[in-house]
Amino acid sequence: MLSIKDVSVRYGRSVDALRNVSFDVPEGEVVSVLGGNGAGKTTLLRAISATLKLHRGALTSGQISFDGKRIDKLDPARIVEQQVIQVPEGRQVFARMSVDENLRAGGLTADPKRRSVARDRIYELFPRLEERSKQPAGLLSGGEQQMLAIGRAMMCEPKLLLMDEPSLGLAPQLIARIGQIVQQINSEFGTAILLIEQNASMALRVSHRAVVLEVGELALEGNAAELAESDEVQALYLGGHGGGTTDTSDDPLAPKINRHRKLGLWAG
Ligand SMILES: Nc1ncnc2c1ncn2[C@@H]1O[C@H](COP(=O)(O)OP(=O)(O)OP(=O)(O)O)[C@@H](O)[C@H]1O
Ligand SMILES: [Mg+2]
Repeated sequence: MLSIKDVSVRYGRSVDALRNVSFDVPEGEVVSVLGGNGAGKTTLLRAISATLKLHRGALTSGQISFDGKRIDKLDPARIVEQQVIQVPEGRQVFARMSVDENLRAGGLTADPKRRSVARDRIYELFPRLEERSKQPAGLLSGGEQQMLAIGRAMMCEPKLLLMDEPSLGLAPQLIARIGQIVQQINSEFGTAILLIEQNASMALRVSHRAVVLEVGELALEGNAAELAESDEVQALYLGGHGGGTTDTSDDPLAPKINRHRKLGLWAG
């Protein structure tokens, strides 16, 4: 469905934020992107949503395709038309507008006939938002604002939803709730999701596949459950075992994790 091939991104004249990154998001799957601060996760989303230019960045190599068509030369509005929708970073709801008005603003580009259907489904997914539908969005709690930001993106009935650290700054219970919502959107709406997360344990629990970025390069990719069990991910993200005692790289029965480069201990 989404195919990222050999993508490199540079900001300004000299900052190489991504180098030859390739991976796919298959139809109907949740793929998470893990990596420490500055690894290039947000840059990757900007490359997909065609918003690099707003940050003085550009693709210097590679291509991005969606449903078999190249999208890396399109402008942001055309990407939205492809139903590739990003939940903005840091929530960014319209604080003075009501919850309902925020949702309607999210659906402006959608087919008018489908808008009320979409809104009803979103209120089913987020009963809390329905209870507060007339309240100004600025009065919602942080967790509720995140739900609203997700709901607003869902108004466009995305085929692919891009989420940039939806659990950032939320309490543990709410992080788990965000994880459930990701799974619900995926299973009930059939939406594919590219989930950027620093909370690796939540992300790996709700994803089918995962990739790990390290300073702009793809370091690991594989099945999420298998990655969660791997020594590298355990040591770097999950605080578990991972003394490096089992070198499974030559073992044909070992999980199929592609090790693109050796991980450093920057996040440990
Ligand atoms: N507008 C910009 N101009 C110049 N350099 C930038 C710009 N935006 C990001 N960078 C650099 O690109 C690299 C990747 O940044 P990016 O924001 O993609 O990382 P990230 O993985 O999302 O990090 P975080 O977890 O902190 O959000 C970093 O070195 C960052 O300093
Ligand atoms: Mg980021």
